[in-house]
Amino acid sequence: MAKIGNIDVGDFPLLLAPMEDVSDPPFRALCKEQGADVVYTEFISSEGLIRDAAKSTMKLDIYEKERPVGIQIFGANLDSMLQSVEIVEKSGPDIIDINFGCPVKKVVSKGAGAGILKDIDLMVSLTEAMVKHTKLPVTVKTRLGWDNDSIKIVEVAERLQDVGCQAISIHGRTRVQMYKGEANWAPIAEVKNNQRMHIPVFGNGDVDSPERAVEMRDKYGLDGAMIGRASIGYPWFFREVKHYFETGEHLAPPTMKERLDAARRHLQMAIDWKGEKLGVFETRRHYTNYFKGIPHFKEYRMKMVTSDDSKDVFEAFDEVEREFSDYEFV
Ligand SMILES: Cc1cc2nc3c(=O)[nH]c(=O)nc-3n(C[C@H](O)[C@H](O)[C@H](O)COP(=O)(O)O)c2cc1C
Repeated sequence: MAKIGNIDVGDFPLLLAPMEDVSDPPFRALCKEQGADVVYTEFISSEGLIRDAAKSTMKLDIYEKERPVGIQIFGANLDSMLQSVEIVEKSGPDIIDINFGCPVKKVVSKGAGAGILKDIDLMVSLTEAMVKHTKLPVTVKTRLGWDNDSIKIVEVAERLQDVGCQAISIHGRTRVQMYKGEANWAPIAEVKNNQRMHIPVFGNGDVDSPERAVEMRDKYGLDGAMIGRASIGYPWFFREVKHYFETGEHLAPPTMKERLDAARRHLQMAIDWKGEKLGVFETRRHYTNYFKGIPHFKEYRMKMVTSDDSKDVFEAFDEVEREFSDYEFV
């Protein structure tokens, strides 16, 4: 049974990865319903939070139904990170996660995200200060290292644990790799096999089928799987993995009714949460996957992803229901 601090997260939990503009409250709620054991917010800038930037503070919203939820923050300045811990605490998350893995230039160039992999002492001291500054469990999400020649993740993970980090999620790529190549899980297994490690070690990167999740659990011996891209527009991924764990068999894909129901609820929750314009806009990226594989679907998809008015999008869902209600997904 894995535990993050005092939070029981079950046996080999599945974690929804933090994803910018994806892991928002509506999507997290859908993933939770479909079996995600822990969900994380997208990364939130500590500098944005302390300046009270509306865009950053909105990202702190959480629904009761999605717990346990971790709020992820990033930054490289100690004062800003500590102040943002205080701000984040007011939203009542269960976990505070530190992003030490984001590879994008605008984050890395400020020494934040994966940029900190060039200064492990700072990474450790920031974590220690944050752990001391809150009663909530602090977790870390990071990558294997800066580049192939500087992979010291076994030592880094141990040092983070020693300063009070309560769980670590490791994406099996380096900063230099960005998203290229295949994720390498062997160094993550080395972290887990370190006799001194006692906090959960979660694997991340390329878990895109139930079989891969089983591999992460049984071959690599990790404590849980963090899932990102495979869930975009497909929150059912979590239940499919769990079903496979329990039975060794593949669950039938979600029916058209389930997909339409999810799409409608997703859009409605998004509008309720962030208003008509943003709600319509930010839900678009999910539709392609919700309705993947249906032949002659372009006309409907175009309507879903180009309409600015939610009425038109809901109408497209109704049209799909009329046209394709008998369609069987394989
Ligand atoms: C659209 C998108 C946005 C992301 N945003 C974040 C983020 O805000 N914080 C973070 O730690 N990682 C972020 N990531 C990285 C993912 O959490 C994850 O580490 C990566 O996608 C590998 O996992 P996967 O192969 O299961 O997708 C993002 C990835 C994607 C695809």
